Amino acid sequence: MRDTLFYVIVSGCFAAVLIGQVDYTTQIQPVFNSSCNSGSCHGGSAGGLDLTSYDNLMKGDSNNGPVVTSGDGANSVLVQKLGSMPPFGDRMPKNLDPLPDATINLISQWIDEGANEESISVEEWMVAVPAKFRIVGNYPNPFNPKTTIVVELARKAHIELVVSDILGRDVAVLMRAPLDRGSHRIVWDAADHPSGAYFARLITNGESEKDVTDGRFITMTLLK
Ligand code: HEM
Repeated sequence: MRDTLFYVIVSGCFAAVLIGQVDYTTQIQPVFNSSCNSGSCHGGSAGGLDLTSYDNLMKGDSNNGPVVTSGDGANSVLVQKLGSMPPFGDRMPKNLDPLPDATINLISQWIDEGANEESISVEEWMVAVPAKFRIVGNYPNPFNPKTTIVVELARKAHIELVVSDILGRDVAVLMRAPLDRGSHRIVWDAADHPSGAYFARLITNGESEKDVTDGRFITMTLLK
């Protein structure tokens, strides 16, 4: 078997697993309420930033623009202002004890999950999780020399992701390992291969008859 460069960049599963774990209304808004008990919670003191409701928080009004960067808790102004070294001005909540790390982490996690107002139900969450084993596609395509192949797994499984050429010869094994349920991105670096059409195929162990669906093959074009 030829040496193959492969990387698993992201376990997309984790996006799915995290969706809806933290609920804004019952877990985040009360934190603001308990720090801002003066009636007008924050309104006006920070460029109009208002912590009284989800809509006001997300308006983006503040001296420094939006305080929530959806998907990036650690770099959101909101989270940074709660830590011991805010990027500007004072630590929040001003003149009160710092929030416990666990609370700051919860706010950060909520933003990482997408900063949604409502968490989704278990039923909705199940729908969001892949129901099949399949190759979703690859991007870019045509590519040179790297392309990212996206696979979805209905549940944890030992998978093989194999690339073959137009003559049916296997030229690369990009992955031969157990992977968690969810979607995963796997990069093929085809620097050592000539231009042409290639096929990626997904093989999984332990799949039942109903799991075997279309979408096991994709065609990829390497253009050098
Ligand atoms: C959990 C509660 C709080 C959170 C999450 C919070 C969050 C923030 C954020 C994100 C900013 C920066 C906004 C901007 O760029 O303009 C800010 C600024 C500010 N906050 Fe708060 N805040 C909280 C509580 C408080 C309280 C209780 C006070 C006053 C008693 C206060 C007073 C201020 C003031 C005066 C500024 C602008 C000046 C500065 O940056 O130091 N905040 N806050």
